[in-house]
Amino acid sequence: MSGMQRQVVLRAYAKGNPRATDFAIEGAPVPEPGEREILLRTIYIALDPLIRFSLDETLISGASRMVPGEVMVGPTVSQVAASNHPDYAVGDYVEGRSGWREYNVVAPDRSDYRGPPRKLDPALAPVSTALGALGGPGQTAYEGVVNVGRLQAGETIVISAAAGAVGSIAGQIAKALGARAVGIAGGADKCRALRDLGFDATVDYKAPDFADQLKAALPEGADVYFENVGGDVTLAVLPLLNRGARMPMCGFIAYYGVGMEGPGPDHLPGFYRMIMNKGLEIKGFAGIFAGQKGLDAIAGWMNEGKVRFPESIVEGLEAAPEAFSSVFSGHEHIGKLLVRVAPETC
Ligand SMILES: NC(=O)c1ccc[n+]([C@@H]2O[C@H](COP(=O)([O-])OP(=O)(O)OC[C@H]3O[C@@H](n4cnc5c(N)ncnc54)[C@H](OP(=O)(O)O)[C@@H]3O)[C@@H](O)[C@H]2O)c1
Repeated sequence: MSGMQRQVVLRAYAKGNPRATDFAIEGAPVPEPGEREILLRTIYIALDPLIRFSLDETLISGASRMVPGEVMVGPTVSQVAASNHPDYAVGDYVEGRSGWREYNVVAPDRSDYRGPPRKLDPALAPVSTALGALGGPGQTAYEGVVNVGRLQAGETIVISAAAGAVGSIAGQIAKALGARAVGIAGGADKCRALRDLGFDATVDYKAPDFADQLKAALPEGADVYFENVGGDVTLAVLPLLNRGARMPMCGFIAYYGVGMEGPGPDHLPGFYRMIMNKGLEIKGFAGIFAGQKGLDAIAGWMNEGKVRFPESIVEGLEAAPEAFSSVFSGHEHIGKLLVRVAPETC
C-alpha cells in the first residue's frame, strides 16, 4: 500500500495539564512492511492519562519521554492491512501500541517489552474492549481491587475517578466479589451512570458539600480506598478510612501536571499522622500485573452479566488532542475514552 496518512505529533512539552495546542496533525507516507513485518491500520486509540508522564520536558517518572515532533505514543487496536509475517493474516485484529497515527509498521519478532501485537477474536468480545475491560484498564482494576486491595465480601471500597476506565470496572469487580462499592465522580450524570452499573452509592466531588455527602455514603467507613486522583478528593476520603484500611495507589491524576511539588499547603504531616494512627497500608503499583488471570476473571464476570464495559468514542484522529486534554480538565464521557480512527472493517 502506498500513499499518505495523518498522524498527531507532540508540538510542545505540556505545562500543567495538556492542551490541544500542544499537539499538531501532519501528513506522512504510509510505511511499507519489510521482511517479517506487518502493516497495521489503526481503528481505535486509547487516551490513557499515563501518557501525560511522557510529555514533561524532563523525565520525572514513567517509562519514556517524548520530544517535540515525535508521533504521540499510546495503546491502539488495529487491523492487519498487509502482512509479511506467517503469524498474522490480512484482516486480523490486534492490540498494540501504534500511537496516534493511521498506519504503522511493526516487526512482531523485534517488539518491545510488551511483546508482539496481541491477536484479538472479535467473536469473543468487541475488539474495543482490548483497550478497556479486557485490556490494560481491566487488568489494572483487578490488580488494585483483588491483589493490592485484598477486598473481601462484606467490606466497603471507595473509588475515585470512578466513572473512568479503571474505576468503572473496579467498582463492578467489587460488586462481583460481594463488597459494597462507593464511587466518586464529577457531576450528576456520571454518578447516575455508576449507579446503573451497580455501584451502591455515588458522590459528586464537584458538589459544594462533597465531604459531607461522602461521610453520609460511608456510614461505617471504608476498608479499601482505590486511589486514582489525589488532591481534595483524597483529603476528604482519608478521615473516613477504617483502621487497617488498604489504599491501592493506582494513580494521582490531579497532580500529573505539577511535577514533584504541588503549590501547597503541605498536607504531608496530617497524612503521616493518619497512616500511623490508622495503620493504613498504602501500596503503589504501575504496569499491568494481574495479567491473564485478571482478564479471565473479568471475561467470566462479563459472561455472567456482572461486569459491563462502558466506553465513549470520539470520532476521527483530529479529535484526539482535544479529547486527551479533556481527560484532565473534565468531560462528560463514561468509561474508557477511545478515538475511532477508522471503521472496523474496510
Ligand atoms: N498504575 C497503573 O498501572 C495505571 C494504569 C492505568 C491507569 N492508571 C491511573 O488510574 C487513574 C484512572 O485511569 P483511567 O484510565 O480510568 O482514566 P480515565 O478513564 O481517563 O478517567 C480519568 C478521570 O479522572 C477524573 N479526573 C481528572 N482530573 C481530576 C481531578 N483533578 N480531580 C478529580 N478527578 C479528576 C475525570 O473524571 P471526572 O469527570 O469524574 O472528574 C476523568 O474522566 C489515572 O490516575 C491513571 O493515570 C494507573
